[in-house]
Amino acid sequence: MEPEDTRVPDKKRKRRCLLLLCASAVLLIIVLVVVLGVTLNQERGQFESIFISRCEKFKEYDCQNVWSVFQEAYINKDPCKVPTEAYDPLIAAAPFKPACNRMMFWSKTKDVVHDFTEKTDCFITLEDTLLGSVLDGLTWCGKEGSSATFTTDCPGWTQCDNNPVRSFWNRASAGFADVACGDVTAMMNGSLITPFSPTSIFASIEVKRFNSSRVRNLKVVLVMQKNAVANCTNMSLKNLEEELDQGINYDCKEVPESQIKECSVHPEKPCGSCW
Ligand SMILES: *[C@@H]1O[C@H](CO)[C@@H](O)[C@H](O)[C@H]1NC(C)=O
Ligand SMILES: *[C@@H]1O[C@H](CO)[C@@H](O)[C@H](O)[C@H]1NC(C)=O
Ligand SMILES: *[C@@H]1O[C@H](CO)[C@@H](O)[C@H](O)[C@H]1NC(C)=O
Ligand SMILES: *[C@@H]1O[C@H](CO)[C@@H](O)[C@H](O)[C@H]1NC(C)=O
Repeated sequence: MEPEDTRVPDKKRKRRCLLLLCASAVLLIIVLVVVLGVTLNQERGQFESIFISRCEKFKEYDCQNVWSVFQEAYINKDPCKVPTEAYDPLIAAAPFKPACNRMMFWSKTKDVVHDFTEKTDCFITLEDTLLGSVLDGLTWCGKEGSSATFTTDCPGWTQCDNNPVRSFWNRASAGFADVACGDVTAMMNGSLITPFSPTSIFASIEVKRFNSSRVRNLKVVLVMQKNAVANCTNMSLKNLEEELDQGINYDCKEVPESQIKECSVHPEKPCGSCW
C-alpha cells in the first residue's frame, strides 16, 4: 500500500510541476510580448504625438488626416529613395496660404530670424506655417518592410539626396515660395563670404519660384555682425538680382544684428520700421 500511496501523488506532483512550468513559460512570453509592444508603441507614438500636438495648435486642420498623408510619403520605403514629389499629397492636404507683404525667407540666419519673427508678429517664415512648425527640428524615416516611423538611424542631410527629411524641406520650401506675394523679405548673412550661396535652399529652390505676377519686390536684409565680410555690393547678391523673374524689383539693405535684436525686444514698433 505504502509504495503505491506515495507513487500516485508523485505522478500527480510531476504533472502539476509540468503544468506550472508550462504556465510560467506562457506567462513569461505574454510579459515579453507586452513589454516589447509597449516599447515599440512608445517609439512610434512619440513622434506621432509630437506631430499631432504641434499640429493641433492650428485649429483649421484635421491633424489625424495630415498625419496619415504625411506618413504615406516615406513609410515602408528605402530612406534614400524618397523624392520631393512624395510630399505632393501632403502639400495638397495642408496647403500654404499666401500672406502678402509678410513672407520672410532666410539663408544661414535661422536663429536671428526666428527670434525676430516670434517676438514681433510682423513676418511669417516657413517654420511658422503648419507643416514647417510641425516638422521643425525633427528627424524621421521609414524602412522597407515596416509600417513604422523611425527617428534614429535615419540618413543624414547630405548622406543621400532623396532622404525623407531633406525631400520634405525642399518640397515645403518650394510650396512656400510658390505662394509668395507682394513685398517679400529675405534675411541673409553678412558674415559669409558668399551670402547668396548657389547651394542654399533659398538660391536653388525658393528664388526660382518667385513669380512676378505675384511678387512685387524682394528686399534683402543683410544682417551685419561685427565680423561681417560681405555687403550689399557683393557679387553673389548681384547674381540674386539677376536671377529674379523679370518684373520683380530688388533692393538690399545692410542692417546691424544689434538693430534687429533691439526690434525684437521692443516689438511695439510698427512692422517694417526696423530697417
Ligand atoms: C552667419 O553665419 C555664421 C557662420 O555660419 C554664424 O556663426 C552666424 O551666427 C550667422 N549670423 C546670423 C546673423 O545668423
Ligand atoms: C509665373 O507664372 C506664370 C503663370 O501664372 C508662368 O507661365 C510662369 O512660367 C511663371 N514664372 C516663373 C518664373 O515661375
Ligand atoms: C563693400 O565691400 C567691398 C569689398 O567687398 C568694399 O570694397 C566696399 O568698400 C564695401 N562698401 C561699403 C559701403 O562698405
Ligand atoms: C562676393 O561674391 C563673390 C561671388 O559670388 C565671392 O566670390 C566673393 O568672395 C564675395 N565676398 C566678398 C566678401 O567679397
